[in-house]
Amino acid sequence: MSIADDPDRAPARSHLYAMGMSEEEMRRPVVGIASTWTGTMPCNLTHRELAAHVAEGVRAAGGMPMEFNTIAVSDNLTMHTPGMRTSLISREVIADSIELMGRAHSFDALVAIVGCDKTVPAAIMALARLDVPSVVLYSGSMMPGRWRGRDVTIQDMWEALGERAVGRMDQAELDDLARHACPGAGTCAAQYTANTMGSVADFLGLAPFGVGDIPAVAGEKSTAARRVGEIAMEALARDARPSRVLTADALHNAIVSVAAMGGSTNAVLHLLAIARESGLPLRIDEIGEVCRRVPIITGLKPSGGDHTAADLWRAGGTSLVVRRLLEAGLLRENVTLVDGRTLADVAASATEAPGQQVVASVAEPVKPRGALAILRGSLAPDGCVLKLGGKNDFRHEGPARVFDSEDECYAAIQAGLIVAGDVIVVRYEGPAGGPGMREMLSITGPLVGRGLGTSVALVTDGRFSGVSHGLVIGHVTPEAYHGGPIALVRDGDTVVIDSAAGTLDLVVPESELAERQASWRRPERPVERGVLAKYVATVGSASDGAITV
Ligand code: FES
Repeated sequence: MSIADDPDRAPARSHLYAMGMSEEEMRRPVVGIASTWTGTMPCNLTHRELAAHVAEGVRAAGGMPMEFNTIAVSDNLTMHTPGMRTSLISREVIADSIELMGRAHSFDALVAIVGCDKTVPAAIMALARLDVPSVVLYSGSMMPGRWRGRDVTIQDMWEALGERAVGRMDQAELDDLARHACPGAGTCAAQYTANTMGSVADFLGLAPFGVGDIPAVAGEKSTAARRVGEIAMEALARDARPSRVLTADALHNAIVSVAAMGGSTNAVLHLLAIARESGLPLRIDEIGEVCRRVPIITGLKPSGGDHTAADLWRAGGTSLVVRRLLEAGLLRENVTLVDGRTLADVAASATEAPGQQVVASVAEPVKPRGALAILRGSLAPDGCVLKLGGKNDFRHEGPARVFDSEDECYAAIQAGLIVAGDVIVVRYEGPAGGPGMREMLSITGPLVGRGLGTSVALVTDGRFSGVSHGLVIGHVTPEAYHGGPIALVRDGDTVVIDSAAGTLDLVVPESELAERQASWRRPERPVERGVLAKYVATVGSASDGAITV
């Protein structure tokens, strides 16, 4: 019985009248519109306007929209500050917020408007928990900036820090680049974490292909957002709920998309979390197996080439990627897309721009294998993630340079204390140890800027920005905080990375490691309070998605 007709819900009706709602509107299906707008970042700055357009579409299709908001944390603004500890934690808080609003108000359907990195997996996790017909609207990428005749993104900013440190750029140039790198609203402008996860939402079937590709500031976005409101009502009519959309085959396709588009290491964490929330079995090694056989077919920064997300949109978008992957038989077609199309429909609808250079084919890829690899070994018994970035397999052996925090490591790099061949180990930055598994862009950016991106390896129980590249290995598990082998590494120990063998090893005799283990004590840290303390108490392993249930 609707609120309009239930005699006992007269008090509830009085609040709906207070918002201007009529009884006819109270009888309509209610579509919750979760916006992850905050005024603290460019990434999600358009969400309020998009929510209004979605609401128009819902109304036009016979539904009653109800908008609400969540928090969101900017990775770029918090990078290299204590605030970065909140970034991954925000994924849980956003997921919990959407879930609570859904449970509180018993929405018949949901639209989640997402942009910045954590907001995408967070929304998908919440939708999986609520299991009502749902659509994800990815708000879209920022346009690239233009500086000295070339396209630039936030990646150029971070690498410029290293260039300034070695004197290849002065402060005035750095400041000038900062004024030009990010020209307006939208998510970071290439295949970094946000756009990676936007594509994941498409390939999972929860977001309509073609909508997320549209840049945040493009005029077409408003029309597409209105259409998403209509799709939510259609999904309700078809009962296209996440448990019917988010299947093992859809998850497989999403992993293929991460590999083929040179996606971010964070996708591993988020795919595992989405799988756990959806009740789907997914081992971290399966992601590595897909990345080994699926090549990178898009020339997008940072792994595939120099193109930006706007270039992909102009070239034909993710629909064109679907066409290429289907042609090669790499996608599973027995999936349900939220807008009712099939993958074949999507592929057929793709418009390839004449002469485009962004999307290649599986037969003649941009890079021979996917962006990521999963390694195991004596330094990471439960697994870790190597950002291979389409590089050929490599072996790196070198002496460990150990740091117990990102900040100590950054100071050493900028002081010129890291040399070619070193293996930097940054620990106590895991989900529980950080807490919050900080991203290490303030390390990887300057390493690349100093010309050490291919000669110095970085191994950490923290994680990386989607912008990061180089010889980087993150998500090492078990993390140091829980006494994993990474806690036992000492300066000068030999570390061996072998991507072909899929191994990460610490070359120290077992007897010596046993002695170190026996004497290991968790370092004293200030006692965390509030949400950080709750997170430390509940967060699981990065190899299980670092979820808190
Ligand atoms: Fe928000 Fe990059 S910091 S998308």
